[in-house]
Amino acid sequence: PIIDPFDYVVFGGTGDLARRKLLPALYLRDLDGQLPETSRIVGSARTDMTGEGFRELVEASLREFIADKLDPEVLARFLARLHYVSVDAKAARGWPELATLLSDEPRQIRVFYLATAPELYGPIADNIHAHGLQTPETRIVLEKPIGHDLASARAINDRVGAVFEERNIFRIDHYLGKETVQNLLVLRFANSLFEPVWNHNGIDHVQITVAETVGVEDRGGYYDHTGALRDMIQNHLMQLLCLVAMEPPATLDREEVRDEKIKVLKSLAPISRDDIATKSVRGQYRAGAIKGGPVKSYAEEKDIAPGSTTETFAALKVEVRNWRWAGVPFYLRTGKRMPEKVSEIVIQFKPVPYWIFPTGSDHAMPNRLVIRVQPDEHIRLHLWTKEPGPGGLRLRNAPLNLSFAETFKNNHMPDAYERLLMDVVRGNATLFMRRDEVEAAWEWTESILDAWKSAGDRPKLYTAGTWGPSEAVAMIVRDGRTWFDEQ
Ligand code: BG6
Repeated sequence: PIIDPFDYVVFGGTGDLARRKLLPALYLRDLDGQLPETSRIVGSARTDMTGEGFRELVEASLREFIADKLDPEVLARFLARLHYVSVDAKAARGWPELATLLSDEPRQIRVFYLATAPELYGPIADNIHAHGLQTPETRIVLEKPIGHDLASARAINDRVGAVFEERNIFRIDHYLGKETVQNLLVLRFANSLFEPVWNHNGIDHVQITVAETVGVEDRGGYYDHTGALRDMIQNHLMQLLCLVAMEPPATLDREEVRDEKIKVLKSLAPISRDDIATKSVRGQYRAGAIKGGPVKSYAEEKDIAPGSTTETFAALKVEVRNWRWAGVPFYLRTGKRMPEKVSEIVIQFKPVPYWIFPTGSDHAMPNRLVIRVQPDEHIRLHLWTKEPGPGGLRLRNAPLNLSFAETFKNNHMPDAYERLLMDVVRGNATLFMRRDEVEAAWEWTESILDAWKSAGDRPKLYTAGTWGPSEAVAMIVRDGRTWFDEQ
């Protein structure tokens, strides 16, 4: 076998993340022949359910989310791996049954995946310990968000850390599993072309956009006390920023990579109360339309508190205070109910020192590297080129285009979770966050949350289906720049 047999226990096993992402990812690994024959998957949640009921739920989820990938033989094999134990995370109920199931056919490698509210991480770790469920090769996976702020993140890390060694704690950020995000390291450090200009001499600014068309769906209960800054920026956008800004690690060893990322996090200038007006914008969507279909306002969504001031959009101007990046702003923005689902990193290079061509072409537009994280994954380098023709010298800005779909026609573009779930089994933590990283990201995020709170900042309303409040445009235009979708 590729790997020793393992047991995968998913807490929150009937929840949205498990149904949409985790179980389909495990199925796809099975389809690829990556799951050892005797490996088991145990769903666990508070709900009472039989093993049969759980298998039906999972089968329905696979049919809903990856219908085109279902192979009857693999499906039967996969469903036969599934077990269910109803467990109360905060009490003793169910734990002895889980212990019995796991010790029936003991496997060296055990994974506990916590796809629950972060308040349950501590109690679950305690119960794993109290019921003797740890083998020497037992790992625990913590979904984001790890806590609600720095203090709660620390408390979770302390409590889980009392039971698990740091090397066995896998704090997941699924953006790190996306192909194009992993590719950032390759692009930067396997090519000699970029590094000499990848600093304040060559780069004017960086834009990172993570836009979604969805609203809060049925996650209002979670989202309304979370907001875009905590839900997206503290983790996903911070990780993208780190990968763009970090120094080359000496090796791909987990500690080396994470050491470099944390240096970036520690160089971020805090955004204080005096800065929030110029360096931050909070938004909340009102009713509008997405691709022609009307959608309601955030305030009217399910489980949103009346008069809620939670932000569904945030834009920031971030300063990385170190030698490489002095004076190069990183503009970040993310939002729900934007016109399209797109995650993109744009590196805007500096202009040439002197322009010898006829004006008329928009020579204010220097070279730009666009890394499209999703969808339609590509890397485009925008260059000036002469437009063919016998007439005068006409210049055109055209891209060199590396499209992943075209270049790697025969490769399956895996979902981020496929890679990461198996990295846990293999004990490979390079693409997971270390304790100090999560805490440094919270510390910085908290400076903004505190500033917003003390200033009584209220979100600016934006119409669903637009790129956020006009203040977000003003923020970058004040610096003589524009968001690239605006052009
Ligand atoms: C999650 C957030 O971490 O990421 C969600 O909690 C968000 O609010 C999701 O929708 C976006 O992930 P992706 O992979 O669809 O870009």
